[in-house]
Amino acid sequence: RTARFTLDPAFTVGEVNPRLFGSFVEHLGRCVYTGIFEPGHPAADEDGIRTDVLDLVRELGVTAIRYPGGNFVSGYKWEDSVGPVEDRPRRLDLAWRTTESNRFGLSEYIAFLKKVGPQAEPMMAVNLGTRGVAEALELQEYANHPSGTALSDLRAEHGDKDPFGIRLWCLGNEMDGPWQTGHKTAEEYGRLAAETARAMRQIDPDLELVACGSSGQSMETFAAWEATVLQETYDLVDHISLHAYYEPHDGDVDSFLASAVDMESFIENVVATCDHVGARLKSKKKINLSFDEWNVWYMTKTQAEVSALDWPEAPRLLEDNYSVTDAVVFGSLLIALLRHADRVTVACLAQLVNVIAPIMTEPGGPAWRQTTFFPFAQASAYGRGEVLDVRVDSPTYETKKYGEADLLHATAVRAEDGSVTVFAVNRSRTESLPLEVALNGLGLGEVVEHSALADADPDARNTLAEPERVVPHAVDGTVLDEGGLRATLEPLSWNVIRLR
Ligand code: AHR
Repeated sequence: RTARFTLDPAFTVGEVNPRLFGSFVEHLGRCVYTGIFEPGHPAADEDGIRTDVLDLVRELGVTAIRYPGGNFVSGYKWEDSVGPVEDRPRRLDLAWRTTESNRFGLSEYIAFLKKVGPQAEPMMAVNLGTRGVAEALELQEYANHPSGTALSDLRAEHGDKDPFGIRLWCLGNEMDGPWQTGHKTAEEYGRLAAETARAMRQIDPDLELVACGSSGQSMETFAAWEATVLQETYDLVDHISLHAYYEPHDGDVDSFLASAVDMESFIENVVATCDHVGARLKSKKKINLSFDEWNVWYMTKTQAEVSALDWPEAPRLLEDNYSVTDAVVFGSLLIALLRHADRVTVACLAQLVNVIAPIMTEPGGPAWRQTTFFPFAQASAYGRGEVLDVRVDSPTYETKKYGEADLLHATAVRAEDGSVTVFAVNRSRTESLPLEVALNGLGLGEVVEHSALADADPDARNTLAEPERVVPHAVDGTVLDEGGLRATLEPLSWNVIRLR
């Protein structure tokens, strides 16, 4: 059977916010140390930033970069991470049972973003686990106030005369999770988030603030948590966060391939909850979604890894090596985000380097791209503009977790110059999927490129020994004529079809 949909410029979802292609740097494992920062590495610059990693970060096309956690932020003392490096204290990081040297801190993070380029925007989290309003305000003053106060002058004394200008702030991290240091009930967190937001806005009313939503749709408190938190914070915040990670359970690859079914329902349920609170409050304001942690993560392995640790510095942790199958699921998660670009206005791929990451490094050695690198880089490069409303008519398959699921998962983005890119995943592990797209009034004349990520071995991966084992390839035979677009999607494939 053939999968079909129609594209029509009159039917759109919304404009893609560049922040949809955000990422995340946490003080966790080797994301920072020997990831982006490795003084003494042959490719390190004068600040210890690995330029080989910088090149890949630019190629990946990330925008907002969330920092410094994650679970790490709930024990974070920002003042430990500034000033002369030799004076910075070493601290226990309770979240990951490691020791934090603080050699890389706030100023180094801002310097790193500048090196990535103007598209890289800071997204800073404050600690609402072990700390509260006062410390958030102090961090804000240190980071953003121009001069003439104790903390802004201290920043200048530390070598950063210009304020960092951080506009986007997360009010804590995963405060609904019992694993979080300083975990709170929705009522406790809602009050603290509201007080912190109110105070931060007293310094700067123009900040954009993200309240913590649920750490996953399966959390027992899901939806009630969002409703309670938003009841307290509705007028004070701009976004609510969502986090989701996917992995196959008990070898159930078919359900794993349909993970985006869960992601889309999570998004739609959070939108419904936000709008329900808005309706109750008789508010015209809409709360948008910050999907500030998402990825494929073989999380069940991590628990054992972490509990065995005896406070090492920057150990190898969460270093998942992604297969072609993982990359196809990952691409489908990107499609889910794009399909909801009207309300998902921030999203952060967790994380950037080494830790469940698209970029891997070897200490003293090379950096390379995981399979997941390619869907992200292509989506960031070609997924800018207006998302067209794609309603697929697709053959289906049976999954244990989600029942009947479409074999085709797709979206399309129309750029400012009128060109259109179709992003599509074929979830079938065995069959090619013929695709027909009717194109109404888009004025498109040719296929620029059909690129696919697929492999005869769905378990193929890129490794230190074979860093380019998996790369996207060109697909022949994709046709655009008066009958529309016709393509064949290989089994288990991520596809990018560019039309102009
Ligand atoms: O990204 C890894 C961890 O996942 C983050 O620290 C935490 O917020 C989430 O549970």
